[in-house]
Amino acid sequence: MNETNFQENVVAQKLHQCYTCVRQRTDFVPKLALVLGSGLGDYANNMKLEAEVDYHSIAGFPVSTVAGHEGRFVFGYIADVPIVCMQGRVHYYEGYDMADVVLPIRLMKLLGANALLLTNAAGGISETLRPGDLMLIKDQISSFVPSPLIGANIDELGERFPDMTGIYDQEINRRIEITATSLEIELRHGVYIQMQGPNYESPAEIAMCRALGADAVGMSTACEAIAARHMGMKVAGISLITNMAAGISKEPLSHKEVQQNADAASLKFRRLISRSIVNIASGLL
Ligand code: HPA
Repeated sequence: MNETNFQENVVAQKLHQCYTCVRQRTDFVPKLALVLGSGLGDYANNMKLEAEVDYHSIAGFPVSTVAGHEGRFVFGYIADVPIVCMQGRVHYYEGYDMADVVLPIRLMKLLGANALLLTNAAGGISETLRPGDLMLIKDQISSFVPSPLIGANIDELGERFPDMTGIYDQEINRRIEITATSLEIELRHGVYIQMQGPNYESPAEIAMCRALGADAVGMSTACEAIAARHMGMKVAGISLITNMAAGISKEPLSHKEVQQNADAASLKFRRLISRSIVNIASGLL
């Protein structure tokens, strides 16, 4: 990397510092990065473990101040595919700059991952979705949160004005769809919208999201996808619909309901992810 640019740019400096810190702990080179959302929290148990690096142990890494939100990178294999998992992600609503929120994504790319599989919990806006459904993300709306690319461009990572026409990779999506069919798991598809959080949306906001073309709403993912595309990673995303968004169902939303539905769908989600990773890696990564 160009040293001058790195020394001048605070975001790049921090990224480089985190990279060095992780590399002191492991020389594992992942091909694919996986971000674990609700319902997949314990997914790393499915992996052949090679190394674990707690976020707390990485100098400069944005760590959650909320008790019980400790996170870590888990390095290892699914079948014979080398992957890195983010067990616990960083959310904008925790109060970090967007550049910090996407630092882990950039770091996983620097560590070797050229593809990124994002997972999340989301509220269903489209009437055709039901709690427990899995939705392949075909496109996204991120206009209600700041772009992670605001500020001086880090030329070593990507260009100033990256194209966002095809954020979600068509070939990876095709492989995930084929995988779902082969496992007899119903896979919906739609547009994901990222809202700021941490409060859930009002019914009027959900009506707005729907008018804008969104099928599911969450508080993560879209900013991560932008940072990944900026760096040229191939991106895919799957939302687990944990609840119907505000005003769509008559029930008030509760975080408990979101967690319970996430846990209930966890097994099918895990099966889909594991088989998809193998099918994505085959000949593509
Ligand atoms: N809104 C925003 N984020 C969410 C929701 C929701 O309804 N459900 C799960 N994450």
